[in-house]
Amino acid sequence: MHEPVCGFGIGLRSEHYRDFIATPQRVDWLELISENYLVAGGKPIHHLDRIRRDYPMVMHGVSLSIGGSDPLDRTYLQQLRDLTERIQPAWVSDHLCWTGTSSLNLHDLLPLPYTEACLRHLEPRVQQVQEFLGRPLVLENVSSYVRFRADEMSEWEFIAELVRRTGCELLLDVNNVYVSSVNHGFVAQSFIDAMPAAAVRQIHLAGHEDHGAYLIDTHDQPVCDAVWDLYAYTIGRLGPVATMIERDDDIPPLESLLAELDRARRVSSTAHGDTRCAA
Ligand SMILES: [Fe+2]
Repeated sequence: MHEPVCGFGIGLRSEHYRDFIATPQRVDWLELISENYLVAGGKPIHHLDRIRRDYPMVMHGVSLSIGGSDPLDRTYLQQLRDLTERIQPAWVSDHLCWTGTSSLNLHDLLPLPYTEACLRHLEPRVQQVQEFLGRPLVLENVSSYVRFRADEMSEWEFIAELVRRTGCELLLDVNNVYVSSVNHGFVAQSFIDAMPAAAVRQIHLAGHEDHGAYLIDTHDQPVCDAVWDLYAYTIGRLGPVATMIERDDDIPPLESLLAELDRARRVSSTAHGDTRCAA
């Protein structure tokens, strides 16, 4: 049985393997990118096994394509299940998006239309994954740059309804909420207010590029002040939630990410005093 995870973590990146193996670091848990460890042999899984001995872990995928129109990839699901059996993560997440077709992976997290038809499309697919993995699927809100004319509801109404229908859980990316709020002109707090608190398993904090009229979700720089403010608002409403700094490009020394994580601890402790979260 996996152990409960709460507190503060970071995404495990190969640049920091040595740091984690050499000495204990001030993180409560680590998030691994599932796709980096689907092959059973080689160096990545060797390092992962070693680091797993010292840290609880959660798994985060990028290629489930839960909203795609092709059947779910059974080979990928089997690889994912094999990895969960090996790593015993506290939870398994991916994104509420589509990533292409079975013949063309666009390697991007593309937004879905917020419609009843899309909810009906997602429902059995989420159930299929949850039954196959034997655990709730944790889904992350993506940042977006376009909307569909067909939208019948807001993104936050869509997400809350999907949770209600499927029992899936949420990885709330506060930076993604902020990026989309600027790009589409909605009030970020409205999104947060609509999140079903009991379903939010994890929070991501990340950096983006500011292009003036629009923002691009890049994960290559520190979390900005506006996102820190929205994080404070979020945990003020949701209570303590397992939180991590998500950095995917221009990876800095580990100490720099840990300093950002310390800021998350301070924000959470200012809001709640006790930063432990419910198991
Ligand atoms: Fe994220």
